[in-house]
Order: sequence, then structure tokens, then C-alpha cells
Amino acid sequence: MTARYYIMLGAPGAGKGTQAKKLSDKLGLPHISSGDLFRHHLGAGTELGLMAKKYMDRGELVPDDVTIGMVRDRLEKEDCEDGAILDGFPRTPAQAEAIEDLASNLGGEVARALYLDVDKALLVERLSGRWMCPEGHVYHTVYHPPKKDGVCDIDGLELFQREDDKKETVEHRITVYLEQTAPLIAYYRDKGTLAAVDGDQGIEQVQQSLLQEIG
Ligand code: AP5
Repeated sequence: MTARYYIMLGAPGAGKGTQAKKLSDKLGLPHISSGDLFRHHLGAGTELGLMAKKYMDRGELVPDDVTIGMVRDRLEKEDCEDGAILDGFPRTPAQAEAIEDLASNLGGEVARALYLDVDKALLVERLSGRWMCPEGHVYHTVYHPPKKDGVCDIDGLELFQREDDKKETVEHRITVYLEQTAPLIAYYRDKGTLAAVDGDQGIEQVQQSLLQEIG
């Protein structure tokens, strides 16, 4: 079976993580978030995590060589043999080239790039209301509240707000996205693998639109 890699593209707060988790359950492929991988490294106090923190706190991208190496290591694990849902990677043209090579070396292909198109005004509101658990499950005070305040429905862990969800950092992350990542939309459109979905809809409607695109 050819391994299939699905790429979630979109601005900070567009809903990549939320949708990737649901797709992961539906398609039976692991959800690989580069941001979560960095946060795991940071939690474990590794050198890579401490280095990445300097960039993440400022809302800047972690250098390509470090990011590509980390994602490569993760994709080489056994649970990714049929492919993966990639969330937050690639984010630069160099990372996009890298995932083409990685996918082909692992006997697979980039099946679709799933772009969540969200109005910029909604992004800050979504991120300022976001709460997460240490395992990466995502909630929102208004749009997706946990059953019990401050506690993850799935694993019972305490929820927290991300350091880089402060308003100034969010605004800088959006600028970095527009400059460095948004050009990948045209890159995947030219390759014929782009599927653009209206990400302003509710969580379940966005998921249905994505599933229709995947077919
Ligand atoms: P990362 O963790 O990848 O953050 P991001 O891309 O900025 O994306 P977010 O996780 O903030 O948002 P999301 O689109 O996943 O939205 P979510 O589903 O949570 O990266 C963090 C940092 O790590 C980067 O700044 C960089 O420093 C570094 N990094 C990571 N990858 C890198 C790479 N490849 N190269 C270099 N550096 C890298 O949803 C947001 C909120 O909205 C939630 O509360 C959710 O409940 C709610 N919500 C979601 N969908 C809907 C909806 N349809 N309607 C209403 N509410 C919704």
C-alpha cells in the first residue's frame, strides 16, 4: 500500500490541529504536529526543545534543518508506515521540498494539501479562547468547551493556555505565516493537490467539507 501524507495548511488558529485530530481518527493515520513535537521536546527539557522555545516565544519559525530533521525522525517510526496527517509542516518552500523527498523515500506521496481558509479577524478570537491539554487535545471557551472547566474530556489532564497565544505574539505569527507559509498555497495549487475549504464554518461542517475533498 502506498503511504499517503495529508498536509494541513492554514494560518495560526485556522483549525489545523482540531481537524487533523478528527481526520486521524477517520482515516486511521497518525496526527503529526510539528508544534506539538517541539512542545514535547520542551516539556522533556531536550536541547532541541530549549532551542526551539527561543523562536516559538517570539512567534518566529524554527530553522528548517532542525524542523525537517525532527519531522523525518517522527515519520520514520512504524506507526507512520501507511502515511500521516501533517499539521504545521511544511511551512516554508524548503520544508515543502523536503516532504516530497521524504514521502517518496518512504514509499509514498503527498496525497492532498488541505487548506483551511479563515477570515483573519477570526484567528485572534479563536486563539485567545483556546485551551489545550498536554497531549494536544484542543478546546475553546465558546466554540468547543470541555465538559468540566479546565479539564480535558479525553484524558482528564489539566488544560492550559499556550504562551504564544498572547495577542502581540499571535499577530506576529500571522505576519510570519503570510510571508513564509501562505506562498505554499500556490505551490500546491500548481501541483494539482490543493483542496481549499471554507474554515469559517463550524468544526463539524469543516470536517465534512474536508472528507468530501478527500473522497
Ligand atoms: P503550531 O503549534 O503549529 O501553531 P500554529 O500553526 O500557529 O497553529 P495553531 O496550533 O496555533 O492553530 P491551529 O490551526 O492548529 O488551530 P486549532 O485547531 O488549535 O506552531 C507553534 C510554533 O512552533 C510556531 O510559531 C513555530 O515557532 C514553531 N513551528 C511549528 N511548526 C514549525 C515548522 N514547520 N517550521 C518552523 N517552525 C515551526 O484551533 C484554534 C482554536 O479555534 C481552538 O480553540 C479551537 O477549539 C477553535 N476552533 C478550531 N476550529 C474552529 C471552528 N471551525 N470554529 C470555531 N472554533 C474553532
